[in-house]
Amino acid sequence: MSRGGRPKGAGRPEGGPRGAALWGGRFRGGPGPELREIGDSLRFDGRLLRVDVEASAAHARMLGRTGILPRREADRILRGLRGMLRDIDAGRLSAAGAPDEDVHSFVERVLTERIGPAGRRLHTARSRNDQVATDLRLWIRGEAEGIRGGLRALAGALADLAARHLGVLAPAYTHLQRGQPVLLSHVLLAHAEPLTRDDGRLADALRRMDECPLGSGAATGTTFPVDRAGTARDLGFASPCRNSVDAVSDRDFAVEVLAAAALGMVHLSRLAEDAVLWTTAEFGFARLDDSVSTGSSIMPQKRNPDPAELLRGKTGRVAGHLVALLVILKGLPLAYNRDLQEDKEAVFDALDTWGASLRAAAALVRGLSFDRGACARALLAGFPEATEAADYLVVRGVPFRDAHEAAGRAVLLAEERGCRLPDLAPSDWRGLHAAFGPDLLPLLEPRTAVARRDHVGGTAPGRVRREIARIRRFARGRGAGSGLSSRGRRGSSAAR
Ligand code: ARG
Repeated sequence: MSRGGRPKGAGRPEGGPRGAALWGGRFRGGPGPELREIGDSLRFDGRLLRVDVEASAAHARMLGRTGILPRREADRILRGLRGMLRDIDAGRLSAAGAPDEDVHSFVERVLTERIGPAGRRLHTARSRNDQVATDLRLWIRGEAEGIRGGLRALAGALADLAARHLGVLAPAYTHLQRGQPVLLSHVLLAHAEPLTRDDGRLADALRRMDECPLGSGAATGTTFPVDRAGTARDLGFASPCRNSVDAVSDRDFAVEVLAAAALGMVHLSRLAEDAVLWTTAEFGFARLDDSVSTGSSIMPQKRNPDPAELLRGKTGRVAGHLVALLVILKGLPLAYNRDLQEDKEAVFDALDTWGASLRAAAALVRGLSFDRGACARALLAGFPEATEAADYLVVRGVPFRDAHEAAGRAVLLAEERGCRLPDLAPSDWRGLHAAFGPDLLPLLEPRTAVARRDHVGGTAPGRVRREIARIRRFARGRGAGSGLSSRGRRGSSAAR
């Protein structure tokens, strides 16, 4: 990594220990350590290094194409930037530990050290305000690919688990009380379905942020004859942003991504919570593989579901990032304000956390194995047949309210006798309601109850099998997601 600025006018912002500042002509002194401590952003925005160089290359190409800079100078800048890209990709150039204020200053300093004074012309017709808004969009776009892959991998793991347990019956819970019989696979897919919407939400956000801020300058555009459509196309954006003031001051695109991340984490948290419950001794439905379990430092017998708890816990911080950015934006006057610098750590950490959590959740799912017998025992103990008895009467013309009442009395009677509903005698049923006949008994069978819920979205085995196939198509990257797919990437041509 190249380092150090020219030691001209020590203490002045354009040189000395802070690297080359991008401003300073109208200052006699440099910023104090207190300002630098809260103001310098290279510590975190160094992650924008690659996209900042890419966007700079697109800008430089435009400067050459339009004649804003002489071809020769633009080409010299471009060669310098291409060299930097190569070095970044080879791991030879990083901003870590550099003394500059931010990633933009770092790039310009390194470029100028490499190619000489031509580097000082790169910032023509550009401001850090349109630059950073562009960088963040590019960075999110690149990162989103991995997140979408993670969503698909997790959905695939859930579909595999569902396929392996197709015959397993369990109680479906409402209010965390046993309710009706359900295929365990149907419940597992209920954790996969939201992932297809998370994917759609991210795709929607990407579609809306597909506009390029470059050319907006500090706030009002630029006097130079820029080719905004060309720069946008070059960087793979659909079009330029339509209002320069808006382009440098809004971060709604980042809010949308944080909202998608926060909700995506909430979905992982709910999956995690079910895994925690299922693996308790009290439920005993499932066991976690050693690779996703931890022990206790004092209680030798413990097997704790820490990864699931961590997923639950990390949801709090991602939701926090969403709230943080909303609060940063609220009441912010137009146009750019330095408050906006606070957007980046929120976005970086949210997407890092979401990506890692998706990988951990997939491992968690792969590490789950279910105890068929425990699921069945829980099911049978909970009078899961009561709705069947009520529905039976409705088919025979009894209003549902009365049918519900009669089936409820059947539960009361079974509870008194300490037996299950199918153990009640035909005479008991007739005593509860005249319309109860002997053909009720087979309908009380949980497997029958499940098979009869044979409609789109129901838990009948055939339906669940089809949904497994649908989720697997989603996992393979082919549709099924309820979101709009992201537009085809034209990709940046910075490396050309
Ligand atoms: N680090 C700044 C940010 O993230 C870059 C833009 C600085 N612009 C300015 N006018 N100081 O927002």
